[in-house]
Amino acid sequence: MTLQKRILAGVLLAATSAVIYSATSAAPVSAAGNGPTYTSDGKLEIPKNYRDWVFIGATVTPNALNGGKAGFPEFHNVYVEAAKLAAYKKTGVFPEGTILVKELALLRNSTHPDGSADEASGRGFFEGAFNGLDVTVKDSKRYSKTGNWGFFNFGHHAQPYSAAAKEASKEECASCHIAGASKTDLTWVQFYPIMTAK
Ligand code: HEC
Repeated sequence: MTLQKRILAGVLLAATSAVIYSATSAAPVSAAGNGPTYTSDGKLEIPKNYRDWVFIGATVTPNALNGGKAGFPEFHNVYVEAAKLAAYKKTGVFPEGTILVKELALLRNSTHPDGSADEASGRGFFEGAFNGLDVTVKDSKRYSKTGNWGFFNFGHHAQPYSAAAKEASKEECASCHIAGASKTDLTWVQFYPIMTAK
C-alpha cells in the first residue's frame, strides 16, 4: 500500500467510525421511541407520527354484520413502535412506555347497502377517510388500577382529533380488555398475525 492509499484508508476508517458512532449514539432515542407525553394537567398528548410506526393489523366490524349499528363500524388500524413490537415478540409482554394506537377508517364508496363496494379486486370492504383515534399506554405505576394500561379516546369523528385526552374510565374501556385479553397483556394479539407469526 502506498502512503497515499494508507492515508485514504485511514480517512475512510475514521469517517466510517464517525457514522457508526453517530448511528449508535442516536439509537437509544429511536429504539425507545418517543414514549407518552402529558399536559401539565395530566392529559395524554396525541402521539406523534404514529402512522410511521409498524402497522400491525386492521379488523373491521361493519354495520351490516352488527344489526345496522356496530359500535365501531370502521376499519380499526393498529400501530405500535418497532422496538416495542420486537420486545413483545421476545418476552410476551410489552415494555413500560408502549403506546398502541387504533385509528378508525370509514368504509369507502359504499355502493351496496351493506357498506361494501365493487372494486377491481372484487366486492368487499375498502378503507376511506380516517374517523377516530383510541390509544392505550403501558405504565404499571400510573395505571395499576386498570391492568397496567391507560386508555384514551381522542375523538370518534373526522380529523382533526383532540390534541390531548383524559384517561377513560375503567368501565368505558379497560374492563372489556381485562375480561377478554388478560393473557396477552390486555392486547388482542390474536388478531395481529405479525405479532405471533414465526
Ligand atoms: C366491549 C369490549 C371493548 C371495549 C369497551 C373497548 N375495547 Fe378496545 N378493543 C376491543 C377488541 C376486541 C379489540 C381488538 C379487535 C378490534 O379492534 O375490533 C380492541 C382493540 C383496541 C386497541 C388496539 C390494540 C389492542 O389492544 O388490540 C386499542 C388501542 C383499544 N382497543 C383501545 C380502546 C379504548 C381507548 C377504549 C375505550 C374508549 C376501548 N378500547 C374499549 C374491545 C374493546
